[in-house]
This record gives sequence, C-alpha cells and structure tokens, in this order.
Amino acid sequence: MMDFNWTVSMPATNIRTCSLKGEQSLWPNEFSDEWEHPFLIIDSEVIRLWDNLLQPVIMSASGLYVMESREVLKNAFTLSQIWDSMSAAGIHRDTPVAVIGGGLVCDIGAMAASTYLRGLRLMLVPTTLLCMVDACLGGKTGVNLAGAKNQVGTFNPAGKILVAPDFLDTLPDREFSSGIAEIIKTALIGDRSIQGLLERITIEKPNKNDILEIVHKCLEVKGGIVVRDLRETGTRMLLNLGHTIGHALESAGEFRLSHGEAVGLGLLGEAAVAVSLGGNRELPGEIRFMLEQAGLPTALNDTVSGEKLSRLFEKDKKTRRDGRIWALPFDWCDCRLTHLTPDQEKKVFPLFMNLLKA
Ligand SMILES: NC(=O)c1ccc[n+]([C@@H]2O[C@H](COP(=O)([O-])OP(=O)(O)OC[C@H]3O[C@@H](n4cnc5c(N)ncnc54)[C@H](O)[C@@H]3O)[C@@H](O)[C@H]2O)c1
Repeated sequence: MMDFNWTVSMPATNIRTCSLKGEQSLWPNEFSDEWEHPFLIIDSEVIRLWDNLLQPVIMSASGLYVMESREVLKNAFTLSQIWDSMSAAGIHRDTPVAVIGGGLVCDIGAMAASTYLRGLRLMLVPTTLLCMVDACLGGKTGVNLAGAKNQVGTFNPAGKILVAPDFLDTLPDREFSSGIAEIIKTALIGDRSIQGLLERITIEKPNKNDILEIVHKCLEVKGGIVVRDLRETGTRMLLNLGHTIGHALESAGEFRLSHGEAVGLGLLGEAAVAVSLGGNRELPGEIRFMLEQAGLPTALNDTVSGEKLSRLFEKDKKTRRDGRIWALPFDWCDCRLTHLTPDQEKKVFPLFMNLLKA
C-alpha cells in the first residue's frame, strides 16, 4: 500500500495516509515535533484491539481519555468528563489533541478540543470506514441532547487527519456496511464513479488500495462542498442527504440502528419523496439494490408512529419557522435543497413510510 499526503479542497486540513503493517507506533516519524505529547481521546475498543501499536503513543501523551463508543454516551456529561480529564492532566493552549476512533468518538473528542481553553489544535485518526469517508472531514463536532442527534456542537476542522485503512481489519462487518451507506450518499451527491468502486469492495474482499481510492474520492466531494460553506448556511445542507429521515429513525429506535443503517434507510425514503416531486423513478430501486449488496437494511424492523417521527423532525437542524429544508436526491449528482411546508410533509410522509415497510 502506498502512503500519500492528500490535498483535498479543504486547505486548512492536511490528510496523510499510512500503512500500519510492521510499524512499531501509530505516529509516522515526521509527526514527532508538531504533534509531540498530545492529549489523547481513544475509543475503548480500538485500544483493546490495537494495544501494541498505541502503547508508544500513549506513553508519550500529555493525558488520556478512553471512551466507550455508544450513542447514549455521546452527551454533555461525557464531554464534561473529558474537560475534567484535560484539566487534571494540566494541558495548555499549545497541547495538541489527537482523537483515535470512529465518528462518535471523533465528534465528541473534536468538540472537547474546540472548546477546552477556547480551542486546541486537533488531529483525527479515523478507525471506522464511516469516519474515514465522511466524519473525519468538515469540522462538525457534536453531542446528542435529550435523545436527539448532534443538537449541540461547533464547527472546528481538524488540522491533520491520519487515514490508516489497516484499522478496518478489525472492524465488524456490520460497521463496515454502515460506512458504505455514507459512501452511497456521497456518490449520489457528487461522484457516480464511486458506484463502480463500491461494487468492488462489497462483492469482492475489500482491497486497501480500493478503500484508499474510495476514501479519497469521498473526501474530495465533501471537501469541495464544505470549503464553500463551512457553517452550513446553504450548499453544505446537501451533505445531509438521507439524514432528515435517518437521524429521526436513529433516535426513534433508541439507537438500535447504527448511524449508517439509518442513513441508508433515509436515502431510500428521501428518494421516494423526490420521485413524488418529479425525480428519477428508477432511483429508489437503484439505492435499494446498493443497500442490499452492502448487507444494509432496506426496511424498518420496528414500527415507528408518524407522530413520533414528526416530533423528531422538529429537531432537524434544517427546520425553519415555516417547515423544513430537505436534501432530496432527484437523480445521480442532482440532489436539491427543497423546502417542504408542514402540509407538504404530511402528504409525503406515507410515501416513504410505505416504502420502508416493504
Ligand atoms: N462529524 C461528521 O461530519 C459526521 C458525519 C457522519 C457521522 N457522524 C457521527 O459519527 C457517528 C457514527 O460513527 P461510526 O459509524 O464510525 O460509529 P462509531 O464511532 O460508534 O463506531 C462503531 C463501532 O465500531 C467500533 N470500532 C471503531 N473502530 C474500530 C476498529 N478499527 N476495529 C473494531 N471496532 C472498531 C467502536 O467501538 C463502535 O463499537 C455518529 O455519532 C454520527 O452522528 C459525524
């Protein structure tokens, strides 16, 4: 596997890829000065599985917070525990923070880094496919509040991202599939060539170079959008494709669905809404096929009442006084921000609920 220093469209973020095979430590040599003695926030499962590689990094750290990766723990209480741990370690403004884990630990760890002492330098080391292709880039940090997703957060892009696909060797299949949902989302938004690569990694055994190519393509699409609208006042809302329905399903099922599984169902449901507004009629079938190929669910196991979903939609960050802005897939590379009033939403509601029952 080749090592790369990638420049995607987000100039403030340097992305470095590396292989872990035969390495004694996670940090490449050139990191030693700039990222010396970081405060570490690490996923407990990753520490358990990658202990040998992480020990040298831990030994030279300014402090360590180990976190179990569960949505119910992605909250303000855990965030305050991380701040306490940073304070007890006596870290300063010039101490960098390195977060090693999936999207969940990266979201809360990045939020701790962006708020403690009003902001510390941040490196992210994604260890799940979902985090490599999506969550590590773009600067969104956050915690859940009252069971609703990412209600409190900041925009704080990492200065450095270290992508090591070897971490995926220990990732459970279900989590690998979860990452594919965000890849399908990105392909729909901005790069259909990802679809062909996706077939290679879902049908055949994933190969590290294919993974790197997909990660690069996904980060290019995301970076190209985020760089124009970091604080999500317009275009960036397109990256919420699948998430209006997805986040609501995730919360409604009390996080029994993984984030990626919920986003996959969201893509399918939102494609049905787009068809009702004139979108490509073939698209829901094509999305369903890709989800099935990746082993992702295409129907809901739990029954969710319309009333509960409507209440959860109110927590969507694209909600306005007179309805909500939906990111809808009208076709490949033709996703549109579409304002739906509460009355229009009531009409489209049965469309996607029926589809998700199928
Ligand atoms: N900030 C963003 O732009 C953004 C984008 C998408 C999703 N997210 C957030 O990301 C989260 C989902 O992230 P995720 O799918 O990475 O899930 P996750 O971080 O919860 O990780 C999933 C599971 O995999 C385990 N794990 C992590 N790395 C592993 C490895 N290498 N080997 C074995 N097990 C490993 C974790 O312990 C956990 O049990 C959600 O909270 C979502 O809101 C954020």
